[in-house]
Order: sequence, then structure tokens, then C-alpha cells
Amino acid sequence: MISLSTKKVLVPLKENSYQVFIGSSILSILPDEIKRRNLNKNLIIAVDGNVWYYHQEKIKNLFTQIACKIFFYIVPPGEKSKSYLELNEFYTHLLNNGFGRDTLIIGIGGGVIGDLIGFATATFMRGVQLVHIPTTLLASVDSSIGGKTGINFGKRKNIIGAFYQPKAVFIDTDFLDTLPLEEKISGLGEVIKYAFLSDYDLFNFVEKKFNSLFDKKIIQEIILKSVSIKAAIVAQDEKESSLRKILNFGHTFAHAFESEMNFRVKHGEAVVAGMIAALFLSNELNLLSNQNLEKFLSLPLKIKLPLKFASMNKGNIYDIMHSDKKSSSGKINFVLISDIGNILLDVHANKKEIFNALQKTEDAIHKNLIKPL
Ligand SMILES: NC(=O)c1ccc[n+]([C@@H]2O[C@H](COP(=O)([O-])OP(=O)(O)OC[C@H]3O[C@@H](n4cnc5c(N)ncnc54)[C@H](O)[C@@H]3O)[C@@H](O)[C@H]2O)c1
Repeated sequence: MISLSTKKVLVPLKENSYQVFIGSSILSILPDEIKRRNLNKNLIIAVDGNVWYYHQEKIKNLFTQIACKIFFYIVPPGEKSKSYLELNEFYTHLLNNGFGRDTLIIGIGGGVIGDLIGFATATFMRGVQLVHIPTTLLASVDSSIGGKTGINFGKRKNIIGAFYQPKAVFIDTDFLDTLPLEEKISGLGEVIKYAFLSDYDLFNFVEKKFNSLFDKKIIQEIILKSVSIKAAIVAQDEKESSLRKILNFGHTFAHAFESEMNFRVKHGEAVVAGMIAALFLSNELNLLSNQNLEKFLSLPLKIKLPLKFASMNKGNIYDIMHSDKKSSSGKINFVLISDIGNILLDVHANKKEIFNALQKTEDAIHKNLIKPL
């Protein structure tokens, strides 16, 4: 039974709309929901290794009661698992265990599991049923919603992938109890992104409550707000032909930072650095006033980033951005900002302007690191 404290957000799509359930202990409703929706009972539960370590009893008990056939598949934690090697392992496991088109794949973990398992589900037998159970803050507020799936290839981030929507998403906030603090902080990267995309109410709320954002009640509110914003955007532009691009605010830089550092940084941290760079570039191109630049920088700069973000090779970053899937006709397409809620798509900049923005980003991150607490 769904309790009163469970929140529901609909992702309304032209075809295959789905519900996102948000709340504490909401996993208990999952068996009933699977039955009610008449989803397949041949289950593959793909779980992040760390999540399995902390939560395996709960996970085993939950699914064993409803499955006809069930296999648990543990994915090694970390960005390196978003690879064709890991995909190959997973397909092999599915085939060796006789799974067919009547399979329901349930991914339990952060954005890595969602992207990898989502892509495997989209392609296995041309697509089987998928349910996401996000367990990180980042996956709860962002990656589990909207159907983007994919893997990295060489140094290229998310370069192979598909849009593939789940049947439902269950965000049980109890998972966050075991999430390490640095992963929670990394998740704030996407939360701050939503603050820039939406309105001053959310921006001021996030800024004001910054030191208590991880309180149970506040984090649930933040997740609910973020999911609602993302659902509304995805509903209008499921395949990212226009509006949905605003969700890439800070990401052109972020993906290049991640590639340049061989994915040894957290995605959310790269997004924070990427938003700082996007703010500086917006100002460099006279799209954002000096006054607003200073005001807006104060939010991402509340997060202290690792020192390596203050010493990146600008030439490499520039080249990687050129080869990003979002660049076109030899031009890098930036998503920039002129005010809160006023996001500008497909903006171009010359090399000097980009290098200036990168230099200012490094200086700001460096200055922030040596600032006394
Ligand atoms: N598809 C999308 O729309 C989209 C959007 C944003 C980001 N992403 C992708 O998401 C990925 C980043 O996701 P992430 O930040 O969740 O990273 P992640 O999946 O690597 O998880 C971070 C770490 O937390 C651990 N972990 C997860 N849940 C836990 C829990 N409840 N308790 C203890 N440990 C736990 C994992 O083992 C891992 O070590 C990137 O690959 C990024 O490209 C995708």
C-alpha cells in the first residue's frame, strides 16, 4: 500500500508515461506495483557492488516473493563499468541463464548502473522491460529520470547510447543513509543545476538551506522538486531536439573535464566545475552581468572541488569539447545563462573566450580552496 508520505510524479510522455515514487521505505510497495502493472516476473536484478554490500538482505527479501525466476547480477562500482566489456558480461549472463523477451531488468544503484543497465535493457532482444531504483543523490534527482542510457568509449563520455524509458522509478531515500558524504556532495552538482534552470525560489532555497540539505525532510523535498522539473522538461522534449538541452547546462565543460582526468573525478564535481566555467563564459560573451556572475558563482563555489580541477590542460579540454557528440559543424554548442531560469542554447564562442573562461574557472577554484573555512 502506498503511504501518505510517498510522493508520486508522473513523467507524461506521448507513449509509455511512467510514475516516479519518492519516499522513505517505499521499496515495500514495489512487489504490488509490479503485479498491478502486470510486469514480467522473470527478473534480473542488476545491483551496484557497494549497494549490494550494504543492502543485500533487503533486496533479496523484496524480490524473491514475486519472481518466477530471479537472478542477482552484481556490477563492479565505478565509472569504468560504463564500458562495452561490462555490457558484454551482462549480455552473456542474460543469455547463459536463458532470459528472453519476457524479462524485467531492475537496476539498483547510481547513475553508472542506470546508464549501463538501461542501455543493456534497451538493446537486449531489441528492448525488454526496465525499472530503475536509484540509490545515489545524483541518480535520484537526475539520471534515473528521462530515459538517457549509455556507455563511454575510450575517452569519450556517453558516446554510445539510446533513449529508453523505464516502466517506473522507485526512489527510496533510505538508500542515502549509506551513501558516503563525498557522493552526496557530488549529487549536489545536479541539484545546483536545477536551481539555475528553474527560478529564484529554488535558487534561494538551495542557497539558504545549503548546510542542512542532507536532512531527511529537506533532501526529499529537493528530490521531489528536481524530479518534477526534469519530468516537465522531458515531457516537452523527450529526445533532446531543443528544450531538453537546457539540462546540459555546465555539461559540455564537465564531460571534457571528466575525459581529461580519465574519469577519476566524480561526475557531480565535474558538473560543478562545468557550471562555474559556463558562468564565466556567459560573462565573457556579455550575456551575464558582472553583478549576476558574482551572485551566481557563490552557489557552486560553496563546494570545495579537488585541486586537480585547478590545473587542467586547456588545450586538451578544448579538443575534447570539439569531439563531443553535442558539437556540430566544427563548432562547440554551449548551454549558457543570462539569468536564473533564462538558459541560452547552442551558443558559440571563440578559442580565446573559451580559454579565458577556463583560466578564470581554475583561478576561482584555486582561490576557493585556499579560502579559510
Ligand atoms: N542518464 C542521465 O540522464 C545521466 C544524468 C546525469 C549523470 N549521469 C551519469 O551518472 C553517472 C554518475 O552517477 P553517480 O554519481 O550516481 O555515480 P555512481 O553510480 O558511480 O555511484 C557513486 C558511488 O556511490 C556508490 N553507491 C551508490 N549507491 C550507494 C549507496 N546507497 N550506499 C553506498 N554507496 C553507494 C557506488 O558504488 C559508487 O561508488 C555518470 O556516469 C554520469 O554520466 C547520467
